[in-house]
Amino acid sequence: MVSIDEMFTFCKRKGFVFPNSEIYGGLAGFFDYGPLGVELNNNIKQSWWKSFVQDRDDVVGIDGCIITNQKVWEASGHVEGFEDVLVECKKCHERFRADLLVEDVLGIQADGLKAPAIDKLIADNDIRCTKCKGGLDKASRFNLMFQTQVGPKPTNESVAYLRPETAQLIFTDFKAVTDVSRLKLPFGVAQVGKAFRNEISPRNFLFRCREFEQMEIEYFIRPKQACPFVKSVEMYKVLVYSADMQENKKEPEQMSMKDALARKIIKNDWHAYWLAACHKWFVDLGVNPENLRARQHKKDELAHYSTDCWDLEYNFPFGWKEIEGIADRSDFDLQQHAKHSKKDMSVFDEETKQKVVPHVVAEPSLGVGRSFLVFMYDAYTYDKDRENIVLKLNPRLAPVNVAVLPLLSNKPELLKKSQELYDSIKCCFKCVYDKSGSIGKRYARNDEIGTPYCVTIDFDFLENDDVTIRDRDTTDQKRVKIDDLRNVLFQLLTGIVKFKDLK
Ligand code: ATP
Ligand code: GLY
Repeated sequence: MVSIDEMFTFCKRKGFVFPNSEIYGGLAGFFDYGPLGVELNNNIKQSWWKSFVQDRDDVVGIDGCIITNQKVWEASGHVEGFEDVLVECKKCHERFRADLLVEDVLGIQADGLKAPAIDKLIADNDIRCTKCKGGLDKASRFNLMFQTQVGPKPTNESVAYLRPETAQLIFTDFKAVTDVSRLKLPFGVAQVGKAFRNEISPRNFLFRCREFEQMEIEYFIRPKQACPFVKSVEMYKVLVYSADMQENKKEPEQMSMKDALARKIIKNDWHAYWLAACHKWFVDLGVNPENLRARQHKKDELAHYSTDCWDLEYNFPFGWKEIEGIADRSDFDLQQHAKHSKKDMSVFDEETKQKVVPHVVAEPSLGVGRSFLVFMYDAYTYDKDRENIVLKLNPRLAPVNVAVLPLLSNKPELLKKSQELYDSIKCCFKCVYDKSGSIGKRYARNDEIGTPYCVTIDFDFLENDDVTIRDRDTTDQKRVKIDDLRNVLFQLLTGIVKFKDLK
C-alpha cells in the first residue's frame, strides 16, 4: 500500500486534488478537487444518495445552510462542548491534538480522554514535542467551531458558526420536514454537504481537513421500535471489534449480524442493520471487505449526545481509522431543540395513536473525503507487466467512463469517424476523446485515471462497422458492432454484464 504522502502526490499529479490556494503557499487543512477529483467526488455522493435516499421509501433528503442561528449550536451542545484537548510545546510552541499525540507515541486508543488523564499519560511516559523534543505544557480544551459574523455590525447576536456537522440542520428542520412528507415512523432524513472544524492538527491529506463534506442520515424511531429490516442483513458478515474485545485485548472477529445480535455483541438490531447497510455500500462499490471493520466506541469515547456508537473503520497505511460513525443519539437533539426553541418536536405515531418525540437510533455519518481516500486506496494497483499504475475504480465511480481512441492519429478518415462516434455516445456516458500519443500511451494514461473501458477505432471499423472495447483490469479486447455499442457499454458500466461474458 502506498503511503498517504505518495497518494497525495499521485492525486495532485493526475488532477484529482490540489492544495487549496497553493500559489500563496496553501492553507493547512484545505484542499480543492481538480477535474478528475470533482467527478469522482460527485459520483460518490450520487451513489450514496441513490442507495440511501432515492432507492428507499423511508428516507427523504434536505439541503440546509452552512451558517445558521447561533442558538442552534447552543442548544445542540456544540458551543459548550465540541472540543478536543490541546497540548502546546513550551519551547517551539507547536500545538498538538493531545489524544492523537498520545496514540502516536504510546500506540493506545486515547480518543475522548479528558485533559487531566492526558496530563498524567504525558508525565508518566515523558511524552515530548515530536518536532523539537521540548517539554509540553498542561493540556487545555479547544473548541473546534469556526466563528463568523453575520451582517455589517458585529454584536453578540451577529455571531454565527459554520456548521461542524450537517446533522443539526436535520433536527432544526425536523418539524418542517415531517409536516410536509407524510413520513411514518420509522423514517430517516438525509443530507450531504459541507462541514467545518478548526482541527488542531489537520493531517493525512483528505483524512483530517478543516473543510470537508459529510453524508449523514438521522434515522428516527418510536422508542424501542423493532427494526423491520434486520432479517435482510442477518447473514451479512462484518469484522467486529466491540468495546469488550478492545478492553479485554481480544482480536476482532468476523461474524454475521445474526451471530453478533444473538451473542449480544451488537445489542441493538437497528445498529446491526445500519452497520451492515453502510459496510455493504462500500463492498458493492468494490472495496475489499478485509479492509473494513466495525469498531464500537468505548464508554469514555462517546460524544456528548451519544449512548452507543459503532465506527466503520478502514485499514489505511496509517492504521485502522474511522471513516463513518454510526451513533445512537436517542432523543437528545430533538429534546434540546424543543427546550431551547420552545417548539413541539413530537410527531403523531399512527401505530400507538400517541404523540412521541422520536429517537435517533442510528446516525450514519460518513465523510466524503474519507470515502474518496478509501476508494482510491482500494483501487490503486501497480501492474508489474504494464509497468504502470492501474486505478481499478468501480465503473460507477470512475471519473471517466469511456475513452474514445482512434488507433492512428494521422489518418483523417479514421479521425472523422472517431469524432462522430464520440459525439454519438457522449450524451450517455462521461467520455473523453484522445488522439494524442501512441495507442499504448493512451491506454496507460486511461488505466492510471481509472477509465474502465477504451473504445478503439481502427481500419476494420470502416469496413465492418465494429470497434474494439478494451477492459482496463485485464487489458482484454473484444470487438463490438457499432449499433450495439451504446447498449453494451451501458451493460458493462452498470455491471449487468461482465466483460468476460461479452460474446
Ligand atoms: P475523529 O475521531 O477522526 O476526529 P470524529 O469522531 O470527530 O473523527 P465524527 O465527529 O464522528 O468524526 O464525524 C463523522 C464523520 O465525518 C467521520 O467519520 C468522518 O468521515 C468525517 N469527518 C469528521 N471530521 C473530519 C475531518 N476533520 N476531515 C475529514 N472528514 C471528517
Ligand atoms: N453528525 C455526527 C458527527 O458529525 O459527528
